[in-house]
Amino acid sequence: LLPLIIDCDPGVDDAIALLLALAAPELDILGIVTVGGNVPLSVTSANARRICELAQCVDVPVFEGCPRPILRQLVTAEEVHGVTGLIGVDLPPPTIVAQPEHGVAWMIRTLLDASEPVVVATLGPMTNLAMAIVQAPQIIHKIQRVVIMGGAITHGNITPSAEFNFYCDPHAAQIIFTAGLSLTLISLDVTHTAIATPERLQALRLIGQPIGPVVADLLGAYGAYDQQRHGFAGAPLHDPCVIAYLLMPELFQTRDYYVEIETISPPSLGRTIVDWWQTTGRPANAKVAISIDAEGFYQFLTKRLQRFNHG
Ligand code: BDR
Ligand code: CA
Repeated sequence: LLPLIIDCDPGVDDAIALLLALAAPELDILGIVTVGGNVPLSVTSANARRICELAQCVDVPVFEGCPRPILRQLVTAEEVHGVTGLIGVDLPPPTIVAQPEHGVAWMIRTLLDASEPVVVATLGPMTNLAMAIVQAPQIIHKIQRVVIMGGAITHGNITPSAEFNFYCDPHAAQIIFTAGLSLTLISLDVTHTAIATPERLQALRLIGQPIGPVVADLLGAYGAYDQQRHGFAGAPLHDPCVIAYLLMPELFQTRDYYVEIETISPPSLGRTIVDWWQTTGRPANAKVAISIDAEGFYQFLTKRLQRFNHG
């Protein structure tokens, strides 16, 4: 089993990523940590617990991490994910409660105690992991790999330069990229090719109760933003790509690059600077996904989510 910590800000695509992870027998999910991001921390925390209940995985502990980025004020994305963070569905309030320990403290303790290196999946602003590394740099040796949804090599989605997660907390992102960790980056350049077209949405709906309609309603409502604003054929499934990468890396092509994140220039804040032509001479610090087999990804997602269908 792959020991895994998931750090997230659910968020529609985070919620689907959590479902994919909770359905995976290959993963040992040590805990889920939430962060302020798409919506405020209290909402991302409640949503992570809602999804665990929906998946009937009430034993996975959920921790609350940082409510805001390290230096900047929190920027949210309610226009995409709705004020509830789970636009398009009305899931009941969770009955499970968040763990009393702070998410950053739990992450440090868990990593230091781990008998084998742990994988960390980050699906939101990377504030929690950056704070953990600043507080306890010795955890770096206990982290097998960090698989990150974030960044845009070409076009940003929150500014012309930047992707939401990196723009929200660029300083956290830069801490991670300079920490000497093994990193895999899945950016918008890839996730914008993993679109939930009407046919793919229908296949997900047909999974049946209880997951199928929830996933299809979430994606339908969340996809409306990108359909109306950008003319996409449906929702881009950013965060589930991270979990798919852990379970089926052959869906992705990657290349090794030197990557850093802009933290100063206002128009370029949070920009993902990828040394594509090796002009800096610096050694690569990340595996950067450059393509995904989108059809294979949706088939895999649909098949895996069918595991929840006990009817
Ligand atoms: C990322 O930002 C959030 O809106 C999504 O959940 C995803 O993690 C895409 O830019
Ligand atoms: Ca997210």
